[in-house]
Amino acid sequence: MTRVFSGIQPSGTIHLGNYVGALMNWVKMQDEADAIYCIVDLHALTLPQEPGEIAQGTIDAARVLLAVGIDPEGSTLFVQSHVREHNELNWIMQTVTAYGELGRMTQFKDKSERNVFTSASLFTYPALQAADILLYDTDVVPVGDDQRQHLELTRDVAARFNSRYGDTLVVPEHRIPPSGARVMDLQNPENKMSKSLDSPAGTVNIDDTPAQIAKKFKRAVTDNDNEVRYDPASKPGVSNLLSILGAMTDTEPETLAESYTQYGQLKVDTAEAVIEKIRPIQERWEALDEATIKAHLENGANKARAVAQPVMQRVRDAVGLYQ
Ligand code: TRP
Repeated sequence: MTRVFSGIQPSGTIHLGNYVGALMNWVKMQDEADAIYCIVDLHALTLPQEPGEIAQGTIDAARVLLAVGIDPEGSTLFVQSHVREHNELNWIMQTVTAYGELGRMTQFKDKSERNVFTSASLFTYPALQAADILLYDTDVVPVGDDQRQHLELTRDVAARFNSRYGDTLVVPEHRIPPSGARVMDLQNPENKMSKSLDSPAGTVNIDDTPAQIAKKFKRAVTDNDNEVRYDPASKPGVSNLLSILGAMTDTEPETLAESYTQYGQLKVDTAEAVIEKIRPIQERWEALDEATIKAHLENGANKARAVAQPVMQRVRDAVGLYQ
């Protein structure tokens, strides 16, 4: 069976971009594959965190993942720091990653410009991400387009490891979710909806009330030419609304565009579709208590270790560490 692995950072509230760009697809893939989903708390530490924030973020992220429909029995849901092998393989991956390769990562360049403190971990982050993926003999990694470079790097370092030490690691493939992989900020439709953009009016959070969601869509930035057409390059705002509505209704944005003449109606319908999609998620979310979530995560970590430990042993053997 195909092994799927993906990760999400537990920093800040999960928003519509995470849901459409990643989580909807995670839920779908767990039926077709052996899916392993990881809350990557160690990755979140690459930017400064207040003590306590990371634990709360982890529990919140797990709650959302369970509420959107990740099945903790059928798939594996766990926390990165609970499986120590991630960091052990991280180090080995750093030894087969070139300094120059890391320097070319656009996410590193963006984040190091935006933040006052650039940690060494922000620079080596892609090696940890490679370790996450390679530790599970992963075939397919479903992540958004923004992770393309990190996935390419993962493939390169896996291949480099294999050519240096013999065939040991599975070289994974990147799978970008089919439609609406990139939800854009409602106020700045040229930019991806993002936790780090700090654009509250442009970001729809998974815990927003219906009134908040309606308001954010009503104020969404469009353009002045009053033509509903799917054309992300010249009409980013309108195209974003069409692709969100498309993701909610499983319809192509081009097809949806044909049934609209007014931006106002498109905004109302998109808001409504999002509200209806989020409503049952919020109900499940409210019903989950921390003890249940914790038990699922412990069980998930046990299942993850059972896969990770033999792979790590293979790596130690291949490298030839004295044991
Ligand atoms: N870098 C990813 C992001 O910021 C998160 C991540 C960490 C990840 N490890 C991963 C995604 C492994 C997929 C596979 O979104």
